[in-house]
Amino acid sequence: QDDQFKKVISHAKEYGYIFPSSEIYDGLSAVYDYAQNGVELKKNIREYWWKAMVQMHDNIVGIDASIFMHPTTWKASGHVDAFNDPLIDNKDSKKRYRADVLVEDHVAKIEAKINKEIAKAQKRFGDAFDKEQFVNTNPRVVKYNEQAQAILKRLGQSLEKEDLADVKALIEELEIVDPETGSKNWTDVKQFNLMFGTKLGASADSAMDLYLRPETAQGIFVNFLNVQKTGRLKIPFGIAQTGKAFRNEIVARQFIFRMREFEQMEMQFFIKPGTQIEWYDYWKETRLKWHLSLGMGEDNYRFHDHEKLAHYADAASDIEFKFPFGFKELEGIHSRTDFDLSQHEQFSNKKLQYFDPEENKSYVPYVLETSIGLDRMFLAVFSNSLQEEELENGSTRTVLKLPAVLAPTKVAILPLVKKDGLPEVAKKIFEDLKWDFNVAYDEKDAVGRRYRRQDAAGTPFCVTVDHDTLEDNTVTIRHRDTMEQKRVKIEELQEIVKKEVDV
Ligand code: GAP
Repeated sequence: QDDQFKKVISHAKEYGYIFPSSEIYDGLSAVYDYAQNGVELKKNIREYWWKAMVQMHDNIVGIDASIFMHPTTWKASGHVDAFNDPLIDNKDSKKRYRADVLVEDHVAKIEAKINKEIAKAQKRFGDAFDKEQFVNTNPRVVKYNEQAQAILKRLGQSLEKEDLADVKALIEELEIVDPETGSKNWTDVKQFNLMFGTKLGASADSAMDLYLRPETAQGIFVNFLNVQKTGRLKIPFGIAQTGKAFRNEIVARQFIFRMREFEQMEMQFFIKPGTQIEWYDYWKETRLKWHLSLGMGEDNYRFHDHEKLAHYADAASDIEFKFPFGFKELEGIHSRTDFDLSQHEQFSNKKLQYFDPEENKSYVPYVLETSIGLDRMFLAVFSNSLQEEELENGSTRTVLKLPAVLAPTKVAILPLVKKDGLPEVAKKIFEDLKWDFNVAYDEKDAVGRRYRRQDAAGTPFCVTVDHDTLEDNTVTIRHRDTMEQKRVKIEELQEIVKKEVDV
């Protein structure tokens, strides 16, 4: 698993998808730059989301609110008081960790032991192996499972009660050590606000303390009535937005899974109070369908319904994805009630009510939210697509099987040789197709090597121009996933590629 994750990170760099930020200065922790292919994949994911959410729904519109917002926004939203992580420092190494993550990592080690026992038994019993029965009856596994559950339960309870002394006690009882130095010398656990602060204004006297937004959602809440009125929207309706968010996360080495500067794709759906369960179920199902439409494998997704709820929610579920390091949250679906709008009414002293013409009365709508991290979706798509295949001739090929609709470059045009007029024909095809797709042109090295390069970069089609092309205007089109090659007319290319890469 670790190896696979390392391969994902190095492949992302080698093929121009993701670089560490400011790498010449040794990078900046949990901050990354999208490179020439990464920016295209990211844009395509954003557009795929936008199309499904805004274009396909006549009652959902988009906005693009600012990253800077009036500071009272974050008082009202609860972020100033409640957007905290419990942190602990190691006195010897002076390193800072999230206390809950230290405990969860400890539990993950217990779970790894369980998986090892399961794998051993599976080998021993072969086809006769009944996993469920084994997990429920094997004394060692039962004991590990009980341990893991007891630890998580206690952690959850202590965090809910804000009993940070007990979180520390738990770390000491479990004899958790600093992962880097092995030291057990811990400070107390303290809450640490995740928002980045900055200042607006030129002079020291008039400067105003601001925050970089930690979620895009609040830009939608404060604009809710403006959008509703100017768009003459009727409940139920949604407002969608994509954009940067910032959190001072204290976790390292998770690549783009958890970043300090990241992008969210959020949609707030405004509904009549009392209908939230119905819409919660609707959006859970609708969002899962969106994920499945990319064909990345049903088994790679699962719901995780929350017992412990954020300060704004009355129901919440995550769509989890099987990343190289296990199932983790990819998207959140939250029933936020009227919490945000009511808070903004109170703090701004402005009415944020919707007049319902059917009911002939005004009320503060309830909100159903879908919130997905664009970078996290990128990692899901990228890590799932990166595969190593054994070929019939015994060699292996590295192929990035990105869904064609998301691939940065849709087709590569390759003249078989760099002479006899083949590059000229290939360039003409390039010039014609570039109006419809991102197209690459490559004439360096043997064609086999060029195929491999495009496979690894994720290009779904390669088109080869050879000597026959000069005679009959046909080319070879090669499919990345099947490696099948077909002879087609040049004028058919646009249709063939379009059929596969269009939404
Ligand atoms: N408006 C609700 C909200 O922000 P959240 O669960 O804190 O909810 C929503 O975040 C999504 O944003 C997550 O499911 C995740 O995909 C993404 N996300 C959150 N923090 C992130 C981070 N530090 N780096 C990358 N993505 C992050």
